Amino acid sequence: MCGIVGYVGPRPALEVVVEGLRRLEYRGYDSSGVAIIGPDGVLQVAKKAGRIENLDKEIAARTIAGSTGMGHTRWATHGAPTDRNAHPHLDAQDRVAVVHNGIIENFMVLRAELEASGVEFASETDSEVVAHLIAAELARNGGDFPDAVRAVCRRLDGAFTLVTLDTSCPGSIVAARRNSPLVVGVGKGETFLGSDVAAFIEFTRDAVELGQDQVVVITRDGYEITDFTGEPVNGKHFHIDWDLSAAEKGGYDYFMLKEIEEQPAAVADTLRGHLVGARIVLDEQRLDNQELRDVDKVFVVACGTAYHAGLIGKQAIEHWTRIPVEVEMASEFRYRDPVLNRQTLVVAISQSGETADTLEAVRHARQQGARVLAICNTNGAQIPRESDAVFYTHAGPEIGVAATKTFLAQIAAVELVGLALAQARGTKWGDEIAGEFEELAKIPAEIARTLDCVQDVRALARDIASSKAVLFLGRHVGFPVALEGALKLKELAYMHAEGFPAGELKHGPIALIEDGLPVVVVMPSPRGRPLLHQKMLSNIAEIAARGARTIVIAEEGDTAARIHAAHVVEVPAVPTLYSPLVTTVPLQVLAAEIAQARGYDVDKPRNLAKSVTVE
Ligand code: G6P
Repeated sequence: MCGIVGYVGPRPALEVVVEGLRRLEYRGYDSSGVAIIGPDGVLQVAKKAGRIENLDKEIAARTIAGSTGMGHTRWATHGAPTDRNAHPHLDAQDRVAVVHNGIIENFMVLRAELEASGVEFASETDSEVVAHLIAAELARNGGDFPDAVRAVCRRLDGAFTLVTLDTSCPGSIVAARRNSPLVVGVGKGETFLGSDVAAFIEFTRDAVELGQDQVVVITRDGYEITDFTGEPVNGKHFHIDWDLSAAEKGGYDYFMLKEIEEQPAAVADTLRGHLVGARIVLDEQRLDNQELRDVDKVFVVACGTAYHAGLIGKQAIEHWTRIPVEVEMASEFRYRDPVLNRQTLVVAISQSGETADTLEAVRHARQQGARVLAICNTNGAQIPRESDAVFYTHAGPEIGVAATKTFLAQIAAVELVGLALAQARGTKWGDEIAGEFEELAKIPAEIARTLDCVQDVRALARDIASSKAVLFLGRHVGFPVALEGALKLKELAYMHAEGFPAGELKHGPIALIEDGLPVVVVMPSPRGRPLLHQKMLSNIAEIAARGARTIVIAEEGDTAARIHAAHVVEVPAVPTLYSPLVTTVPLQVLAAEIAQARGYDVDKPRNLAKSVTVE
């Protein structure tokens, strides 16, 4: 949450920083602000509540020159989203400026201490304490800026990425990180900072990851990294394998619509290279085969949409390996006392690799001796760094706040993890595994066919956009799809939406059915799951009889589904375990179209942010 940008180099810093903020706006959009050190060595600050358009207007009325600067786009934690609480925050002398992503958990104590020494605060944020603490440290240590930042970091508890300016050092920026992300972009004669590489992808594709509890000083000539005590450390270089076009809308009205269309490629790219001969291979495996063979219990931990990918993965892993699998929301898992040991494999699914609860769940699991395998879309993020094995999804950058292509890529990845476990344990023969892989490899083409058939969903969406609520029903792998359909609708269209297992209908949800209520039913395959298909037909009849407007996502040729359905959306017939890769697609389109029909911003739903780096 919150996006941070920094720049030192020959270009006008304001332009680089504001452009970077635009690319990071998906991380939070409650307010934004910039601080640039002017040619006269004076800080120039502009900040405004609301979207970056508001900051643009503020900046347009002023001349802000300078080649060292930073910016912030905020998702509010402490302090309402007002102009005053927008970042950057300054010390009393306007010498030091700070932007912050995270939560400083001991800020009350620090603030009380500063107030007792006469400091007056200009905001209600936790972040402002850092500017005053750095100023006090500079006064104490004789003006060594990096050292002052390190000393302050040692006093902070919680999660933070900090980017700081000191007008006495106009050619450098000092930044620090603990638990929140920060990457350095290395250009020729210019250096960048960003919460993620999208901030500077236009200028350089060479980047350096900053590790936990590290401080970096950037200048035009490069960067130097130390730990919080000042010991030099080496950064980990990487090359970004996508370019600016991937982070732009490319003619679509919204990133989400583009990302929905990119799903066949996201799944194909995720599968590519993972079958070598007849063997499934992971990306990074710091576990030996014996450890995989010894696994007797799997927990999948994740949040939001990634949790739904886990629920689908459970069906495949149990089916192929016969190992019991529990799927748990990371925020619950980390605060209870799950039974974990060296034979437990925890599969952590996170698109960003930085979700606070998932990261803490990973740490908790490892402390208890469990092995951790991460499924992640962001190279080198904290969760894969702290895991024993990694499977990267290759969905490319996802900018729309609501996950779409990363969800489908996560489903493919967790299913491959299931096959890798089956291979290690010998519960499937090599040729069976290769056969499953080949079936999975056919799915991107089926997703593309699904995308060609969703025109009707658009008209349907406009038709039900004024409904009060929508229910979603599914069974087996269709149940997590129903949950995901409901989540998308809540996130984007701000409608009451709930997903239920259809078998639970008579235990409560059927009481919600009233005349005209849209109910979306994810139909099991009549060939793959004939019994469930039969049960679901009865469920459709029951709700249709009570006035529900039934919208049925059914396999091509499922004539029986049409009998009680008000609308049928046909999707290609694929093997049951892979069916969520196609049945999810119309539900994504439905949510995006309803949101558009209701006049909402599909990419930036209210109150949400793409990566939740605070609890
Ligand atoms: C937020 C996003 C969701 C995402 C969830 C988990 O809630 O809005 O789209 O599914 O975080 O994110 P992760 O990066 O851990 O997959």
